[in-house]
Amino acid sequence: MKEKIKGILSEAMQTLQAAGDTQALNDLRVRFLGKKGSVTALMKEIGAAAPEERAEMGKMINDLRSKIEEAIEDALRKIKNSEKKDRLASERADVTLPGHKLPLGSLHPLTIVYHEIRDIFLRMGFDVHEGPEVECDLYNFEMLNIPKNHPSRDMQDTFYISDDVVLRTHTSPVQIRTMLREKPPIRMICPGRVYRCDDVDATHSPVFNQIEGLVVDKHVTLANLKGTINSFLKEFYGENTKTKFRPGYFPFTEPSAEVDATCSLCGGEGCPACKGAGMIEVLGCGMVNPVVLTGCGIDPEEYAGFAFGLGLDRLTNIKYGITDIRLLYENDVRFLNQFK
Ligand code: PHE
Repeated sequence: MKEKIKGILSEAMQTLQAAGDTQALNDLRVRFLGKKGSVTALMKEIGAAAPEERAEMGKMINDLRSKIEEAIEDALRKIKNSEKKDRLASERADVTLPGHKLPLGSLHPLTIVYHEIRDIFLRMGFDVHEGPEVECDLYNFEMLNIPKNHPSRDMQDTFYISDDVVLRTHTSPVQIRTMLREKPPIRMICPGRVYRCDDVDATHSPVFNQIEGLVVDKHVTLANLKGTINSFLKEFYGENTKTKFRPGYFPFTEPSAEVDATCSLCGGEGCPACKGAGMIEVLGCGMVNPVVLTGCGIDPEEYAGFAFGLGLDRLTNIKYGITDIRLLYENDVRFLNQFK
């Protein structure tokens, strides 16, 4: 029996030396310690031995089993260690290599000009409010003194979602929402996308951007409106900018005006952008119609307001000398990269 045990042990150790990977070690475990393995076979021989020898035999075979088990575990550990070393070596990263540069994006020209305009109004103490682009007819038209079937609805070609819901044609409904929610004094601008049923060409797009503004307080006059617009335009276009207020018509303001400013491209000399006039129309404005204030629960005997609205796309195009509004919406990187 002792001889047999010795034989198995040395056989196991030899095989172990030759085993180079975990698979070989598993095979080895099965061959010696498995159900049909040689050590297990040895155990079965105990039954045939004399009773007084059995305990001794059992102990020897168990010794043998644990020696082989330990040796296998040992070898397994070594293999795993060296596999780990190999893996770490192959995965080593050279941190001194130069990285891949990510191309840096840039702000869209509309965003650049919006930020500029917004900052001017923030400095004058205005808040910024936003509202939904899918808007109730009530806020987009009715409460702005534009009832159904009123001829002034033709001023803005509208995308109707249903009889009572539209894609907003201007950001004025945000002013209605603000007046319904807040008590005067109100000083706010509302930027955002607006929609009109226009065919696309160099100067028209069915979606474009507006910034409108509203001030409601006690003792607000036309002089405040002119002062605010003039300081805004001077800050935006430059100190030498001249302005001209021409009478205009909007259902929600009375009186209303359209404002021209010195063409920033030619400085008033006359150029193709201003069609030789030296001035260019930049915004619409007026004193809030008392009917609109009353509709929003503001007493026109106590409060007055002025409002203005400008087209962000138009001002952006004038500022950069862009002659085709489509460039603002095509996202051609060759165009956008020029604004870095
Ligand atoms: N809501 C007007 C438009 O989109 C612009 C405007 C706003 C005019 C406020 C006057 C006062 O045409």
